[in-house]
Amino acid sequence: MRAGHCLAALAAVTTLAVAACRPANPVAMDADVIVVGAGIAGLAAALEAESHGARVLVVEANSVAGGHAVRAGGFALVDTPLQRARGLHDSPDIAFRDLMAWGEDADPWWVRFYVENSREQVYDWLTAMGVQFTMVVPAPQASVPRFHFTRGAAVNAVLPMIREALGRPRIEFLWNTEVTELLRRDGQISGIRTERSRTSGRRLYHAPAVILATGGFQSNLDLVRRNWRRDLPAPARLLIGAGQYATGSGLRLVEPFGAALTRMDHQVTFVNGLPDPRDPSGGHGLLTQNPAAIWVDATGRRFTNEAASGKVTDRAVLRQSPATHWLVFDAVGARQLTIRGAAWLSAKTIQEDILDNPTLVSKADSVAALATAAGLPPDALLETVQRFNRFVDQGMDTDFGRIGPGMTEAPPPALRQPPYYAIQLFPMTRKSMGGLVIDHEARVLGGAGQVIRGLFAAGEATGVAGINGSHGGEGTFLGPGVLIGRVAGRSAVALALGPRALTVRAPPATAPASTAPAPVVQRSQTANLPALLAQHRQGYWHFGVSHALVLERALACDGCHKDPWGTGPATSTAQRLVQLESCTKCH
Ligand SMILES: Cc1cc2nc3c(=O)[nH]c(=O)nc-3n(C[C@H](O)[C@H](O)[C@H](O)COP(=O)(O)OP(=O)(O)OC[C@H]3O[C@@H](n4cnc5c(N)ncnc54)[C@H](O)[C@@H]3O)c2cc1C
Ligand code: HEC
Ligand code: HEC
Repeated sequence: MRAGHCLAALAAVTTLAVAACRPANPVAMDADVIVVGAGIAGLAAALEAESHGARVLVVEANSVAGGHAVRAGGFALVDTPLQRARGLHDSPDIAFRDLMAWGEDADPWWVRFYVENSREQVYDWLTAMGVQFTMVVPAPQASVPRFHFTRGAAVNAVLPMIREALGRPRIEFLWNTEVTELLRRDGQISGIRTERSRTSGRRLYHAPAVILATGGFQSNLDLVRRNWRRDLPAPARLLIGAGQYATGSGLRLVEPFGAALTRMDHQVTFVNGLPDPRDPSGGHGLLTQNPAAIWVDATGRRFTNEAASGKVTDRAVLRQSPATHWLVFDAVGARQLTIRGAAWLSAKTIQEDILDNPTLVSKADSVAALATAAGLPPDALLETVQRFNRFVDQGMDTDFGRIGPGMTEAPPPALRQPPYYAIQLFPMTRKSMGGLVIDHEARVLGGAGQVIRGLFAAGEATGVAGINGSHGGEGTFLGPGVLIGRVAGRSAVALALGPRALTVRAPPATAPASTAPAPVVQRSQTANLPALLAQHRQGYWHFGVSHALVLERALACDGCHKDPWGTGPATSTAQRLVQLESCTKCH
């Protein structure tokens, strides 16, 4: 008997009839809510759902949690105690105006919802979990400083969330497990198919509600290019500036169900990517900045006001053919160079692997020799540098307005002190501002605007619900990731346990008395590490990248692998909690 017939009959008949209407082979539920992805949005969803009494299964393809947030910076938050303590007057109205103006075509409902709820539902909620925001800084799109940082940046916001989630007995994690398919039964999403990367085991898990928190698609260059913005050509060379798992897998999972995608051409592309010399694929980029540098194109000429907002400079670079530019600076300006975006970077490795690497950085004692080394026309580059130096001397840039009377920042230095440097940079993917279409309850919608029952989404998989419009702001991914994650968690609970579950906070569950034997603590296998790494095993990506650094830095195993975690995989919650203490040694 089909569910639709039962529902029609139910209104009139007794509970006996209900039993008769149940499918002949009811499926045992493995959880109330399944969350796909343990990034900041998935963690927020899982914590929220659990707090209303749901049993939550979190499925993560990687061996560790946190997603992009471990590498990210700050949160845009509105009218917080920290802002007040700094004497900053912010309000939902001011923030609404700022975000709508900067984004140009942002979703007004979600922007309003975010600015009105970020303080209670993000700032207060994270603070109660032990997150400490210590700094608030200005950003170009905000008329009031509201870009909030914890010490050590977003990793210290997401670690307390992971710790909290590990400690909740109603939340279970499946690591190294990719969701490869969504299951449907009686017209609604009813579970997932998984594949374990280390053992290639496959399984089905059933639940009445599934939340996709799979992140963006910025490591999937094919998808990025297919959805490139129409007003500018796609760059010939485009580096990847997002994480290993940001492949848009959530967007693929919904394909069979006719889910709608929106704003897919709204993508944050940085223009200052330096090819990562340690990336064997040659495809990843490092974020490279120098506020003292001039930017020149392939003809050796400046083409924009380097100090203008990203909106102006990004366009100026992406319009170039080919889309690339060179940072040119001298020995004085070299002090302002920053290169970020990989855990292996340190002052020593930046010097050895990048600055001393002539394929990445050209260096010479004269501007003409620099041009030759970098493959730029020497006469044009010399003229450009001399002209810029004149602008510095006279306090006025008559070409692009970088220097002039209205300037609030200190003027850039002239380029006169050898050695001179040139670094060629390329566009680099970063953040998705489009993806799955959700309604105001974070339910995933189909092409005709219909709800796909049982399916919810949050975070970058939804392009954070269009809050950024066409232009990514500072901190407007992490904060919305938390808020929309919590909305999805609540909506999933309402479906799985009934709306009344939302009106009460469930009592904390107590951990079941463990019947499992205490895990065997494995002792030092130092000698094995190079051999283990050489195997490049499936499902050990993070183990590989992290322990390559352990070897390079000659770190002692017991600096991280402390009791009760031996030098082996962390299988118990207690071991996972110890493991969390090591993350900030690299992130
Ligand atoms: C370097 C960098 C710096 C940034 N800085 C900032 C900043 O300062 N402020 C800001 O607001 N934003 C910033 N962002 C953006 C922000 O970090 C991300 O938008 C946000 O962390 C995304 O969170 P998420 O949970 O939606 O997705 P993710 O963090 O991408 O997490 C998705 C998770 O899902 C898992 N997954 C994916 N597919 C599957 C599957 N099929 N099965 C199982 N698991 C799966 C992935 O392994 C991953 O762990 C930055 C991004 C980058 C890359
Ligand atoms: C800076 C912290 C740190 C140091 C130092 C460190 N480890 Fe680890 N180790 C980790 C983390 C974090 C993980 C979890 C990695 C993962 O699963 O992605 C881990 C996981 C492992 C694993 C388990 C891989 C698996 O099967 O899941 C082994 C084995 C291991 N480490 C061996 C060593 C040895 C041997 C040393 C000393 C030479 C060492 N580690 C030093 C942080 C560290
Ligand atoms: C010994 C160094 C080291 C330690 C310790 C370590 N990591 Fe990593 N981690 C790396 C490296 C290297 C990368 C690759 C990306 C990069 O270079 O930033 C990475 C990447 C990641 C990513 C993917 C980020 C993305 O953008 O997709 C996550 C998530 C992550 N680590 C989480 C953790 C967590 C959680 C811990 C603690 C349990 C941890 N790491 C401990 C070195 C380390």
